[in-house]
Amino acid sequence: MTQRTHETFEMVAKTFHGLEDVLAKEIRQLGGGDIEILNRAVRYTGDKALLYRSNLYLRTALRILLPVIKTRIKNQVDLYARVREFEWERYVQPGMTMAVDSFLNSTIFTNSHFVSLRVKDAIVDRIREITKRRPSVATTNPDIFINVHLANNELIISVDTSGASLHKRGYRKGDFEAPLNEVLAAGLILLAGWKADTDFYDPMCGSGTLGIEAAFIARNVPPGIFRSKFGFENSPDFEADLWEDIFDSVEERSWNGRIISSDISRQAIQIAMRNAKEAAVHKNIEFQGIDFRKYPKVEKRSLVILNPPYGQRLIKPDIVQFYKEIGDVMKGSFSGSEVWVISSNLEALKFIGLRPADKQTLFNGPLECRLNRYVMYSGSKKEKYKSKQP
Ligand SMILES: C[S@@+](CC[C@H](N)C(=O)[O-])C[C@H]1O[C@@H](n2cnc3c(N)ncnc32)[C@H](O)[C@@H]1O
Repeated sequence: MTQRTHETFEMVAKTFHGLEDVLAKEIRQLGGGDIEILNRAVRYTGDKALLYRSNLYLRTALRILLPVIKTRIKNQVDLYARVREFEWERYVQPGMTMAVDSFLNSTIFTNSHFVSLRVKDAIVDRIREITKRRPSVATTNPDIFINVHLANNELIISVDTSGASLHKRGYRKGDFEAPLNEVLAAGLILLAGWKADTDFYDPMCGSGTLGIEAAFIARNVPPGIFRSKFGFENSPDFEADLWEDIFDSVEERSWNGRIISSDISRQAIQIAMRNAKEAAVHKNIEFQGIDFRKYPKVEKRSLVILNPPYGQRLIKPDIVQFYKEIGDVMKGSFSGSEVWVISSNLEALKFIGLRPADKQTLFNGPLECRLNRYVMYSGSKKEKYKSKQP
């Protein structure tokens, strides 16, 4: 933010648990340096162009933070003093609105609301002292977000350069039940290592997130291209020309592979089609109303990502039967393909009745989920036998 154009500085991209490695890979491909994987975040260095590009291009980042204060504090007097002595006038101008969010893992401070208030007071007092005018606080659509991270007595205060979370791509106009967070959906596709070289199936597509994110990847569409605003555009040192150059140099590619998004619900298909149209990838996705339990046989080796209902609305015998049927269809219709299943219903997942090649824990918002990878062999009986549960 108030960095000179070619100065190199530190940034922190936040993500979900389990996506740190794919995010680090994305940052490396974008040209980030000194990459360090943290818990639910990746630290790296780069210049202002990389900061802008990170916000536009990183599929698995939730926000890009710019740390401005790193210090140790003993008590609330220290907290106020350390924040007030910082040159906030470089980032916050009078008349701007701001919001402060605090994340605590500390025995000294336990009340995040209190910490946010102290930080806000210190910034407002500093700006008022210097300019004789004060910024104001806004909980919705503030001009600047300040992020406070306090682990024991280590304080890190960052300017949030993204503004609204980067999962808000701008294309989702409608939701069907339990939609995947867009960052998680992109992360699943990248975790699966899809290179847009096979057909992609999202057979319980709901509002269409997986198919849309897959189309973005296949066509090289930056995930942030439809957003109306990023936080850094409000910074006093925002370089509009640099941002325009970055935006103008976006090169989408044409792609004629297949993405097949289907759902049993007509309403879901309509919502998914509308979202895909907003994202301008509707021509890349085939939408079908199909009951997964009657899925026709798919002959080509494909990637399938399945996000079935977690079962909150179904009674136990039904969800057990449903997940059993999912396993049967995977064996019958998708032999030769790789199927990734994400669900928060760990019990139900067992009834798929196949041995996953890999398992990992991810979070869909606050919901803990398991992501299982199944390799559906089409070859010998021995191979098929190996994929059955003992
Ligand atoms: C958890 S939601 C999927 C959310 C989706 N990934 C998104 O981002 O919006 C589960 C979806 O499975 C669909 N579904 C339930 N039973 C189905 C079946 N037998 N065949 C196909 N889809 C089914 C539901 O209609 C719902 O849209």
